[in-house]
Amino acid sequence: MKIYFITSNEGKFNEVTEAIGSVSGVELERLELSYPEIQGETLEHVVKFAMGWLKEHLEDKYLEHTVMIEDSGLFVNRLKGFPGIYSAYVHRTIGGYNAVLTLMEGEWDRRAHFETCIGILGQVEEPKLFVGKCDGTLANDARGTGGFGYDPIFIPEGEKRTFAEMSVEEKNKFSHRGKALMDLKKFLADTNIR
Ligand code: IMP
Repeated sequence: MKIYFITSNEGKFNEVTEAIGSVSGVELERLELSYPEIQGETLEHVVKFAMGWLKEHLEDKYLEHTVMIEDSGLFVNRLKGFPGIYSAYVHRTIGGYNAVLTLMEGEWDRRAHFETCIGILGQVEEPKLFVGKCDGTLANDARGTGGFGYDPIFIPEGEKRTFAEMSVEEKNKFSHRGKALMDLKKFLADTNIR
């Protein structure tokens, strides 16, 4: 089974490769294409809209296989869920994790979580969603050189290290994406998509 993962994010592609790239019978390929990412209220809205658009606009040579997209964000309790669905925009415009650290200066409630929504379409009867959440806290300072995005400031529950201080394999064990990918892996094992 061939899966095209549409992403420009190398870090995400590495995590997906680690989780499902070695599943027997799965051939994972990265596709760098753009599709509309609406400013919806939830990640699910964003992914569902994009899947509808891709179904209409993507070439058949891709839709003859399985096509996967993913949207995620960091939700900070004290900031009422910000940056959340605006995580990519905040990362691009005001400096990502440094901006979040500045907003959180002196705050004692540092609870936050990551959420992800993975969508697959193409050789599935109905476009399907897989979601994952990872609770944790924000570090006081950025730590670690691995991962991407907000990884240097996020400490998952039960750990002392930030995601950026972990290997891809370790991060997948805790992370929002790792959890959604586990469900996707089960789904792929139970289906006869080719
Ligand atoms: P998007 O899903 O590509 O829209 O990403 C949303 C934003 O959150 C981007 O700035 C990503 O770098 C960041 N992000 C998404 N997933 C993660 C993650 O697992 N760790 C750290 N940052 C992430």
